[in-house]
Amino acid sequence: MIVAVPRETAPGERRVALVPESCKKLVQAGYALQIEAGAGAGAYMPDAAYREAGATVEADPAALLGRADFVVKVGPPALGADGRNEVEWMRPGTVWLGSLMPLRNLATVRALAARRITAFSTDAIPRTTRAQAMDTLSSMANIAGYRGVLLAAAELNKYFPMLMTAAGMVPAARVFVVGAAVAGLQAIATARRLGAIVSATDVRPEVKEQIESVGAKYVGIELKESAAAGGGYAKELSEADKARQRELLAEQCAAADVVITTALIGGVFAPTLITRDMVRRMRPGAVLVDLAADGGCNCELARPGETVVENGVTIMAPLNVPSGMPTHASTLFSRNLVAFIQAFTKDQAFQLDLADDIQQGAIITHAGEVVHTRTKEALAKERA
Ligand code: NAI
Repeated sequence: MIVAVPRETAPGERRVALVPESCKKLVQAGYALQIEAGAGAGAYMPDAAYREAGATVEADPAALLGRADFVVKVGPPALGADGRNEVEWMRPGTVWLGSLMPLRNLATVRALAARRITAFSTDAIPRTTRAQAMDTLSSMANIAGYRGVLLAAAELNKYFPMLMTAAGMVPAARVFVVGAAVAGLQAIATARRLGAIVSATDVRPEVKEQIESVGAKYVGIELKESAAAGGGYAKELSEADKARQRELLAEQCAAADVVITTALIGGVFAPTLITRDMVRRMRPGAVLVDLAADGGCNCELARPGETVVENGVTIMAPLNVPSGMPTHASTLFSRNLVAFIQAFTKDQAFQLDLADDIQQGAIITHAGEVVHTRTKEALAKERA
């Protein structure tokens, strides 16, 4: 089975889907590894390291993809920008694996189906214990939570820790984290390691204990209606609960030096939670890092990919935060993909098994059809 690794071409993307360590593992297991020249450069992994790991380096991406049985990528396949159409270059029946984010990339999904590619999206993998090792969303969210706090700390006009100095004492910074799943919990832990006083909120009640276990104070409202949507994901709050949550958020933001937002609905879209009025009530010099920028931003004033200042409050909305730490982001992403490949190939051939809950959850297109329920619904809505 030929496993191909094309170069990532999205603007600012520095990760690579497989690192040399993983290539070596797969080569030892009998797979033929082929990588596009320069694919690892952004993550400081030169072609020579891939050759040493037993992979072949190919300069022509069309030839690479035309030969592949199994293609792995970080982001969706390029769809024609700069004459690079990775979907057209693959043969029908090829298996594609990566973070497709199908609900955000419907045109790509349609093209993959039309080309009869069997595409699996790692971000649609069910959140089960067995699937944990394959979960790229968690690996990347962890990095986002960590780096989001470091970005805030570098921007803040104050220390994070309480310090006793010869010039007297300075108090610890106050950090408020909104949304406490993988990214939020890592943000709490990182802010705590830096010495900040941290509070955090979420709408799923089971999170309270997790927030406390990483050293933050839980703040929350008693919800009239459950916000759990199954699979660990949240759904939108009812209007009454939203209004009550707004009061809590306004209070917490006003008391904070740093606000980190990570809230997503269904793991995909960002609800607007921090309003213009709440920002107006924040302390001048405070910093807000909106880590939900890829899904549309939690703060009304945040602009994806930009930093804006409103009333002395700096609002950052960095895009693709994991790419800013490309070596470890690639290494973890790559290990997640290897776990998937090893689980579902036998005698170096991919075993399609739609009775398997992981494959069934992650498969987006197969045999000319879009087969992923939520994506099918989104496509139908688009047509309506
Ligand atoms: P996510 O990125 O989908 O959402 C982030 C957080 O935002 C969630 O905790 C959500 O409840 C919260 N949120 C949504 N609306 C909010 C609002 N109005 N106010 C405050 N918070 C709000 O979360 P992620 O990291 O994808 O994790 C989702 C779930 O899956 C979690 O329960 C997590 O523990 C679980 N999980 C399980 C795994 C496994 O067992 N393999 C792997 C990774 C996550």
